[in-house]
Amino acid sequence: MLKGRGDGWATRFGLIMAMAGNAVGLGNFLRFPGKAAPFGGAFMVPYFITLLLVGIPLVWIEWTIGRHGGGYNHGSTPGMFHRLWSNRISKYLGIFGVLIPAMVGIYYIYIESWSLGYAWQTATGMYWGKTTNTEMGAVFNNYLGKSDSFFSFSPQAYFFFLITFALNIFVFSRGISRGIEIVAKYCMPTLLVLGTILAIRVITLPPIEGRTISDGLAQIWRIDDWSVLLKSDIWIAAAGQIFFTLSVGLGMVHTYASYLKKHEDITMSGLAAGATNEFVEVILGSTIAIPAAVLFFGVTQTQTIASEGTFSLGFFALPVIFQQMPGGQFFGTLWFVLLFLAGLTSSMAMFTPLLVFLEDELQLTHRQAVKYVGIATFFLMQPVILFMNHGLLDEIDYWMGEFGLVLFIAIETVLFSWIYGMDKGWKEMHLGADMKIPRIFYYIMKYVTPVFTVGLVVWWFFDSLSDRILMTGVDADSRPYLWLARIMMLGMAAFLIWGVHHAWKTHPKFLDVAETSEEKETP
Ligand code: ALA
Repeated sequence: MLKGRGDGWATRFGLIMAMAGNAVGLGNFLRFPGKAAPFGGAFMVPYFITLLLVGIPLVWIEWTIGRHGGGYNHGSTPGMFHRLWSNRISKYLGIFGVLIPAMVGIYYIYIESWSLGYAWQTATGMYWGKTTNTEMGAVFNNYLGKSDSFFSFSPQAYFFFLITFALNIFVFSRGISRGIEIVAKYCMPTLLVLGTILAIRVITLPPIEGRTISDGLAQIWRIDDWSVLLKSDIWIAAAGQIFFTLSVGLGMVHTYASYLKKHEDITMSGLAAGATNEFVEVILGSTIAIPAAVLFFGVTQTQTIASEGTFSLGFFALPVIFQQMPGGQFFGTLWFVLLFLAGLTSSMAMFTPLLVFLEDELQLTHRQAVKYVGIATFFLMQPVILFMNHGLLDEIDYWMGEFGLVLFIAIETVLFSWIYGMDKGWKEMHLGADMKIPRIFYYIMKYVTPVFTVGLVVWWFFDSLSDRILMTGVDADSRPYLWLARIMMLGMAAFLIWGVHHAWKTHPKFLDVAETSEEKETP
């Protein structure tokens, strides 16, 4: 009964590259500098603390839940949670692990396509001559077709979106070993090379108006004001960044891990994938955008640019900088290709939980599942693109990519560490392990990780949730678009609730639940 699922990873290197690629994404190069810059070096304190106490433990937990569920032929979290806790509610809690990645995917792929468009624009020098942030801001709005009109639409952005979308569908339609693994095996090493070239280019830049590259690096690594650590927002920002960058709370790690066989290592491979992501974020991601911006614009202006939004450093400031350095067109193109590859290796994972949910639980064939996922997500993406002007994308990002992810993490840690039980969990995690996890992590996973994540949800609840739900401060014109975003999310959730209900009543594998219960299966 406890077998690995069909398809699966051809090599361990491929698995680690795919898992690392799943994690390394736009978050490493765009979101991270944007979150870190406003706080200065102090950001790295909560960043490393949450990495150790929550991030890495979650990586191990998600790999374990995934491999364990995969043994019962579940590739998505409704089935996986059901196998951890036989209560009838558990499978419905697992819906978040399908809903969240799919909804994040519908805007993530659009943002990823901007990188491809900008790689083209940079290689052909289309915006060359626009040498201020304001001018580059206008180029950006123009690229997206943002205006005062009803729709935001530009043929160019739409063209690159179509290419990016088709590429994603093509990759995951080929499955794990022939699609995702192959792409990851080539893209990840390429990405590491490009990141290294760019980092070296930035740290060898000469001083400008008395500012050196060390001043830029100090913005990440030197703590001038320890007192900011007393504020909750720096901790929330750091924890959110750790979750997003490691791709935990997104259901995608579970799906990838579900293809592992019962005795294939988790502890070492999980750590290797997490460490690769951290190398890319902390070493490469932190050496490019912020230091270059500080060198060219100074600390204060860099902080202002970063606080203007996630895309300001990457899409406004860096193109201005590239225009002022020798070989800038070449390095600028590398930067956007790097972003695109990082985005692709993450986004190709985002629809996989939904895809395998349709296959494993609703018994669709792979072809049918790819077709339905492709059609549904394509339609859901249209409002995201056309109504970007009106905050629709940000609304989905808030509920799925920020709050939803934290909520899902809180649920899964409580489920794993307290309900399934840490003793069983620890044993399961170490089946076939190439590395024994230091015992201290047993206690961290048992106490610190769940308490921290549940605490975050409670904080969120009291801090801003009601304002967000009630759309406090949102102007009347934007409200219908935010409602549309909510209807899209609720619609997808309703479908998944129906799907779970239907699957558990009709799929033969659930009809003999009593016989396949956890107690009987665990050696
Ligand atoms: N972990 C992915 C990223 O950083 C989602 O973009």
